[in-house]
Amino acid sequence: MLELGSTTLAATTFEEPAERSGAELNAVRRLARIAQAHFGLDLPAGKSGMIAARLAKRMRQRGLATLDDYAQFVEADATGAALGELVEALTTHHTSFFRESRHFDFLRDQAAPQWRQQAQLNIWCAACSTGEEAFSIAMTLREAGREDARVWATDISAEVLAAAERGLYRGECFPQPYTDWMKRYLLRGRDRMEGWYRVKPEVRRMVEFAPLNLVRPTAVAGAYQAIFCRNAMLYFDRRTQQDVVRMLEAKLAPGGYLFVGHAESLTGIAHGMRYVAPAIYVKAEEDAR
Ligand SMILES: C[S@@+](CC[C@H](N)C(=O)[O-])C[C@H]1O[C@@H](n2cnc3c(N)ncnc32)[C@H](O)[C@@H]1O
Repeated sequence: MLELGSTTLAATTFEEPAERSGAELNAVRRLARIAQAHFGLDLPAGKSGMIAARLAKRMRQRGLATLDDYAQFVEADATGAALGELVEALTTHHTSFFRESRHFDFLRDQAAPQWRQQAQLNIWCAACSTGEEAFSIAMTLREAGREDARVWATDISAEVLAAAERGLYRGECFPQPYTDWMKRYLLRGRDRMEGWYRVKPEVRRMVEFAPLNLVRPTAVAGAYQAIFCRNAMLYFDRRTQQDVVRMLEAKLAPGGYLFVGHAESLTGIAHGMRYVAPAIYVKAEEDAR
């Protein structure tokens, strides 16, 4: 036994990393190829351990003993449910309100004033995760006097979209105390909802959530004044990134802005947009082309 502060650790608390058999590695590569083909996820051989670890919980839930059983289950499933589980397990949903806050400053101070003559503002929040980004956009546009704006917020994951629809967040998601901006846009929970906040209905009404795979987009209306597609493309392989950027550019209105994650560079990707600020690009106005 080893003493660590007040905790006693048995020798069995830690273990050597598991050696993967050839069959397991083969199953992981098959699953990685499926994830690449359907979702553009870049999962090189070096990530096999991560893939296996993330799929372990799904295998247990399905009562499947080996990675090969799990790969066969995904390959045989025609309903799409297994693919949905696979992408849930292999992607991260990390997000926060006003993440990379300079983008929201730009939206309020530079972009919104240019849209004064624009009768209808349409913003697309692609890969919106649990909704914090889409609501941050809506709140920012309200600050800029554009309560009429519509935010279309999409993600591939049904689980995160269900959470986003509720618009319900723990207090840890926000700076404390209950500051002025929070009072404007969030209701504070009472009694058994103490410690929780709910986005106010007038903000929730500005946002429409919908499922969409960026790699196989269907029915995207187009002509958005701004598109936020942040911190999803970094999981895609280069070819998929190129296809997604081309698709997003095509869906921007002339003069529209594309916001990408600060860790996502468009260097080496062919596009016709102009860089305006870190991780912000603008599509040329029609008469300038
Ligand atoms: C790390 S979160 C980023 C959330 C938010 N955009 C932000 O920057 O805070 C990445 C999101 O991308 C989504 N995603 C991954 N692959 C996708 C795809 N092919 N199509 C649409 N969404 C995808 C995931 O489900 C996840 O919610």
